[in-house]
Amino acid sequence: MTVETLSGNGLFSDRYMHDPYRVFSELRGVGPIHRANTPSGIPVWVVTGYAEVSAALMDGRLRKDSARLRAIIDRATLARLDGSDRAETVATDMLNSDPPEHTRLRKLVVKGFSARRVERLRPLVQQITDELLDAMVEQGAGGTVDFVDAFAFPLPLTVIFELLGIPRADQRAFRAWSTVIVGSGSRDELRRATTAMGGYLAQMMAAKRSAPADDLLSDLVEASDAGDRLSPLELVSMAGLLLIAGHETTVNLLGSTLLALLQHPDQLAKLRARPELLDPAVEESLRYNSPAPVTTWRYAAEPMTIGGSSVTTNDIVLLALGAANHDGRFPDPDAFDIERKTGGHLSFGHGIHFCVGAALARMEAQVALGRLLERFPDMALAAPADELRWRPSVIMHGLAALPVRLGRQ
Ligand code: HEM
Repeated sequence: MTVETLSGNGLFSDRYMHDPYRVFSELRGVGPIHRANTPSGIPVWVVTGYAEVSAALMDGRLRKDSARLRAIIDRATLARLDGSDRAETVATDMLNSDPPEHTRLRKLVVKGFSARRVERLRPLVQQITDELLDAMVEQGAGGTVDFVDAFAFPLPLTVIFELLGIPRADQRAFRAWSTVIVGSGSRDELRRATTAMGGYLAQMMAAKRSAPADDLLSDLVEASDAGDRLSPLELVSMAGLLLIAGHETTVNLLGSTLLALLQHPDQLAKLRARPELLDPAVEESLRYNSPAPVTTWRYAAEPMTIGGSSVTTNDIVLLALGAANHDGRFPDPDAFDIERKTGGHLSFGHGIHFCVGAALARMEAQVALGRLLERFPDMALAAPADELRWRPSVIMHGLAALPVRLGRQ
């Protein structure tokens, strides 16, 4: 077992933000668990081995209770900016709570995202996809277009807005808040964005209460009024979580999938020739370049051993899903192969916090990719891949921009 020095292993360095997989691959031979400092100086454990990550995801000794996590982080850092503030923004949502609160909160929404419910949304997703592609064609006529800005961002955002019943016209303001909340802005910026989004959502809830509609927000308002099952703060936190989780990760998936295909012309040609590979191609993209390569933060509620290292009470433990997905459990793990067996990849997590929106994200990516391939037979990258910008984040990995030439239609 080897434990590297606190900042010497590349985790969360600038190089990591650009290409976490190179760092993961260097760490693979060293061991399944590593020490690192987040960019704001918070010491954490990062688990990278497949067996250790999947076991940890199921381990009830690793907890998420946001109040305690925040206290731990504040003590460790004298309240420097990072996860401490993230925890504050999402104080009472399911992703940052443990059973029994977690069970109660999750139950309220999980049915709304079942595979059957999601299938019913497919025509809507197809329609939004086509509208966005039409607009992208106009925008990119004769030149290049930024796929992230024109398509990858607005598709999942429009879908989750429709699902919750929030007016499309408010997307621009929401997108600005969300970028600050998941990004690496200053404490003040974060606080302003969180307050503005919370105020907006509270207003939206009030509107749904006086005029309920056939949407998820109205259902949540009704549930909280009927059985006192959601406090006003929980209601706003739930809506905020669904809005942010519902699009930030999917944006990354759409951008990374298109990039991987454009960088691997043999795989792209195979997919064009055999459209039945669409679903496996999306799964391989999820494995190959996880939209959230590291989970949200957990702390050890008691002493435990992970991958041969002693983790003590209150240590923060991050589970590197992206590293686990490139473990030797998957043969030739750094190759992008749309026909590989991807079963057991961990990109949506595992255990009680398994992604509520997995079926929705998969369906959006399948529809988007299918339509893109049909419509643009010779779409190409319009910038060298090593010059592409990635959004700086400890837990997410996604392109800031993806310039493409649409070509013939
Ligand atoms: C949880 C990934 C899309 C809603 C999670 C977790 C991961 C994840 C890894 C678990 C985090 C942890 O254990 O720390 C992704 C990826 C997506 C995606 C890769 C897209 C490609 C969505 C969508 C929604 C959504 C579209 C829809 C609203 C949630 C929620 C949770 C969650 C509510 C918390 C579940 C819980 O704590 O029980 N997601 N997600 N996600 N995701 Fe997603």
